[in-house]
Amino acid sequence: MAKGLHLSSLSLLVICVVAVTFTGNNYASASPSNFIKSCCSTTRFPNVCVESLSVYANTIQQDPHELAQTALSLSLNKSESTRAFVSNCNKLRGLKPREYAALKDCAEEISDSCDRLSKSLKELKLCKVKGEDFRWHISNVETWVSSALTDDSTCGDGFSGNGKMKDSIRGRMVNLAQVTSNALSLITQYASKY
Ligand SMILES: *[C@@H]1O[C@H](CO)[C@@H](O)[C@H](O)[C@H]1NC(C)=O
Repeated sequence: MAKGLHLSSLSLLVICVVAVTFTGNNYASASPSNFIKSCCSTTRFPNVCVESLSVYANTIQQDPHELAQTALSLSLNKSESTRAFVSNCNKLRGLKPREYAALKDCAEEISDSCDRLSKSLKELKLCKVKGEDFRWHISNVETWVSSALTDDSTCGDGFSGNGKMKDSIRGRMVNLAQVTSNALSLITQYASKY
C-alpha cells in the first residue's frame, strides 16, 4: 500500500515535470507573438508589421485568417483617418490653386481607396464561410487591395515644391501604403495556406 502510494506520487511528479517542460518549449516556439513575427518576416515592412499587429496578439492567436483580417481592418481604419485629415486640409485658407487641386485629387483617391478596402474586408470574411467559393473571394480581395495601394501611392504626387502640408500628407500616405502593402502580403500568405 505504502509502496503503491510512493510510486504513484513519483509518476505524478514525472508527469508534472514533463508537462511543464513541454508547455514551456511550446510557448517559446509557438506563441501568438512569435506567429506574428514569423508571418511578418516575409512582408515588405516587417518592423511596421510587427509593431502595428502585436497589440492584437490575443485575438489573432495563430490564425492566418484572423491575422489577415486584422491587418486589413487596420489599413482601412488608417485610410479613413487619412481621408478625414485630407478633407480638413481642404478647408485651410490661403491655399494656392495648385495645392487646392492636388488636395482635391488626393481626397478622391483616398475615398476610392477606403471604399475598396471596406468591400475587401467584407469579402475576406466570406472566405471563411462554409460553402462559399474561397478562390473567387480571395482573388477579389487581392485585386481590390492592390488597387487601393496604387491609389495611395499616387496621392500626394500632385504637391510640388516643399511645404509643411506636403510633408505631412506624404508622411501619412507613406505609412498608410506600408500598412496596406503588409495587409496584402498577409492576405496572400493566408490564401497560400488554405
Ligand atoms: C477599426 O475600427 C473599427 C471601428 O471603429 C474597430 O471596431 C476595429 O477594431 C478597428 N480595427 C483595428 C484593427 O483596430
